[in-house]
Amino acid sequence: MQVSAQKIVVLGTGGTIAGTAAQAGDNIGYTAAQVGVGELLAAVPGLEAVAGGPLVVEQVAQIDSKDMEMGVWRALALRCAECMRDPAVRGVVITHGTDTIEETAWFLHSVLHASKPVVLTCAMRPSTALVPDGPQNLLDAVAVAATAGAQGVVVVAAGTIHGAQRVQKVHPYRVDPFSSGDAGPLGWVEEGAARLVQAWPQAPGGKAAAAVASMQADASWPWVELVVSHAGASGRAVDALVREGVQGLVVACTGNGTVHHALGGALARAQAVGVRVVRSTRCAEGQLLPTAGDAFEAAPGLSPVKARVSLVLDLLH
Ligand code: SIN
Repeated sequence: MQVSAQKIVVLGTGGTIAGTAAQAGDNIGYTAAQVGVGELLAAVPGLEAVAGGPLVVEQVAQIDSKDMEMGVWRALALRCAECMRDPAVRGVVITHGTDTIEETAWFLHSVLHASKPVVLTCAMRPSTALVPDGPQNLLDAVAVAATAGAQGVVVVAAGTIHGAQRVQKVHPYRVDPFSSGDAGPLGWVEEGAARLVQAWPQAPGGKAAAAVASMQADASWPWVELVVSHAGASGRAVDALVREGVQGLVVACTGNGTVHHALGGALARAQAVGVRVVRSTRCAEGQLLPTAGDAFEAAPGLSPVKARVSLVLDLLH
């Protein structure tokens, strides 16, 4: 069925894009997640023209993304899945904080069959800034969501389109804080048009989607912690976590997946009693290359925080 003027659904979750400061010149002393997503959209002239159809606004959460919870992820996944099925919806835009946007993007990429665009966007400056970056990012995100043929979960900020797998926040202050490392971005948004240099992400098929859908909103998710291998590391934190019942451990390893011998001993003990142990690398670029006979499995191409998301979903599955 051909549907004219499909809508774009905009889901608000908070972040600096919805933040306010007491003084317009203050780009760091603000409170995130104060302004409703409807108000944010109303402040961007011409948004509906760029969308090419109606914009439907829903406030899913109103939080600083450092406090992101699995319950919000579940609500986002369920609403996005409905939008993927609804022929009246062209795409989804999600406003989010920059701090954990890469984790939410990877989670949604992993659980959705994203046959339409799911575009996360954000800002580094609060809505009250002298020169806020949120309105342009919102305009660009809507332009990407309205692009013919677009699909998959992407992050749009500072005129750049990043795929969910590679995007990482690499800077705490500048208005373009993201990098896709040596893989590079998928493309850019220029005057309302997406210029791609890589293909849109493939819709992976909704791994764990059913498990997420069947969860109660307040259910507890598998307990997976991150540990870091570093100079002078010990295994004491890992031993304590195992005593407390941790189900999975992701190790941010040195170099190509190496682990301090003291930490490695504790991880082996954890694995022996059934705790899943997964290695990722601390290196910002490249990806871990597993070798035959590695003691612990690896998550090539995933940063430690994304490897953690994948392990949570594996254990849920
Ligand atoms: C947040 O992540 O919610 C606050 C920081 C930001 O959006 O830049």
